[in-house]
Amino acid sequence: METTTRRLTLDDWPEAVRLGLEGFGGKRPDASPQAWPREGQTCWGTVVDDRMLARVTGNSYGSWFDGIEVPTLGVAGVTVQAEHRGQGLLAPLFRALLDETDAPISTLYPTAPGIYRGFGYELVGTLRTVEIPSVHLSGVRRPDGVTTRRATEADLAAIHACYTRWAAEQNGPLTRTGPLFDLADTLTWFTGATVAVDTEDHVVGYLLWHRGTGYDESSTISVDDLVADNVEAASALWRVLGSFASVVGQVRVRTSGDDTTRLVLPTAAWREVKTNPYMLRVLDVPRAFSLRRSSPALRADLAFGVRGDRLGLIDGDFSLHVADGEVTCAPATGADRVYTPAGIALAYAGVQSSANLRRAGLLVGPTDDDPTWDVLLGGRPFHIRDYF
Ligand SMILES: CC(C)(COP(=O)(O)OP(=O)(O)OC[C@H]1O[C@@H](n2cnc3c(N)ncnc32)[C@H](O)[C@@H]1OP(=O)(O)O)[C@@H](O)C(=O)NCCC(=O)NCCS
Repeated sequence: METTTRRLTLDDWPEAVRLGLEGFGGKRPDASPQAWPREGQTCWGTVVDDRMLARVTGNSYGSWFDGIEVPTLGVAGVTVQAEHRGQGLLAPLFRALLDETDAPISTLYPTAPGIYRGFGYELVGTLRTVEIPSVHLSGVRRPDGVTTRRATEADLAAIHACYTRWAAEQNGPLTRTGPLFDLADTLTWFTGATVAVDTEDHVVGYLLWHRGTGYDESSTISVDDLVADNVEAASALWRVLGSFASVVGQVRVRTSGDDTTRLVLPTAAWREVKTNPYMLRVLDVPRAFSLRRSSPALRADLAFGVRGDRLGLIDGDFSLHVADGEVTCAPATGADRVYTPAGIALAYAGVQSSANLRRAGLLVGPTDDDPTWDVLLGGRPFHIRDYF
C-alpha cells in the first residue's frame, strides 16, 4: 500500500472530519469552514488516493516556565482509521509534525500514555475535575475588603491579567495568547463570569461557571476557572458558589496540582471525578533550556546527554551554563550524565527529582550534580488548566 504523509488543506476537511468522528465520536458539523486548518494550527495526514488513514493536529501555544513563555506545540486529534491501526502509521506522522515546528517543547493529552512514550513524551501533570458538595462552600469565611460582581466586557483584559499573574508563577500552564484563544467569547460561553474586586475595583480573582440544569441535589455547577490573587479573593469566589447551596447539590471545578484556593475551604470534601493526564516532550534541548531562568544565587556549569530518542530529534550531549539568573545551553561532547527522552521531559517539567529519575531508569551517570539540577529545575509546581 503506497501511502503519502502530507500537510492537510481545506480540501481535506471532509476526510479529516470523518476520521475525527470515527476516533472521538460527536456530531458532524453543519457547515464546512471558510478556512481550515485554523490560524495557529497545522494538520498532517496519511493518505492513500483520496482516503485519509491517519491524522494529527498541532496547535501553537505558549507555556509558562520560570516566568518565561516557552513556545509549545500542543498535539491533538490523533486518529488512525480502525482497519489500519497497529501498522505503525503514527511514527511518520509525528516525525513530519515535529520536524516542521519551531517550538522547543510539545505537549498532549493522551487517551493512553503508551501511544506516545515511544515518541518521547512522558506524563508530567494532570488536569483534574473535582467535586465539592455546595453546602460546604457556604461555610467559607466572609472575606475582608473584597467583594464580587458580574464581569462585563470591560473586565476581560483584567481577567486575563489575573490568570497570567497566577500562571506565570507556575510551570506548565498555557499562556492563553495567540490566535487559538479568543477572550471575547468568555461572556457568551459561560453562564457567569464573576470577578472578585478590591476596594478600588481592581480585579483580584475570577470565576468562570456554567449553571447546568435542575435545582435539586443532583444539580451541578461547573467551574472552568477559579483563580485568586489572595485568600480574600478565593474566599469571596467560593462563597458565590456556596450561595447556590439551596438549588445545587455540588460544584465541579477544573483544577490541577495542589490548588491554593482549596486552602480556604473548611471541608476535606474534594473528590476527583475526572482526570486528564498531560504529557510533555523536549524537541530542541538547547532552545528549551536556554529559555529557563534560575535563582541569581546559583552558578553552575553542567554537562548532560540524551539517548534513546526513537524520532532522532534530541539525542546528543549538551552543556548548561547558569549565571546571573540566566541559563545557556549548547551542544557539547563527552557528557556522562545521561537522560532518556522521558527523563529529560520529567526533569524539564520539574516534577521528579534526579534520585527519582534514577529509580525509574530514566537517568544514569555520576550523582555529583544531582542537587544542582534539582535546585535549578525543581522550584515551581506544575499546573495545566486548558484541555485540548
Ligand atoms: C490511538 C491510535 C491513534 C493508535 O493508532 P495505531 O495505529 O495503533 O498506532 P501505531 O501502530 O502507529 O502505534 C504507535 C504506538 O502506540 C502504541 N499503542 C497503540 N494503541 C495503544 C493503546 N490503546 N494503549 C497503549 N499503547 C498503544 C503502540 O504499541 C505503538 O507503540 P510502540 O511503537 O512503542 O509499540 C488509534 O488506536 C486510534 O485512532 N484510536 C482512537 C482515537 C484515539 O484514542 N486517539 C488518541 C488520542 S490522544
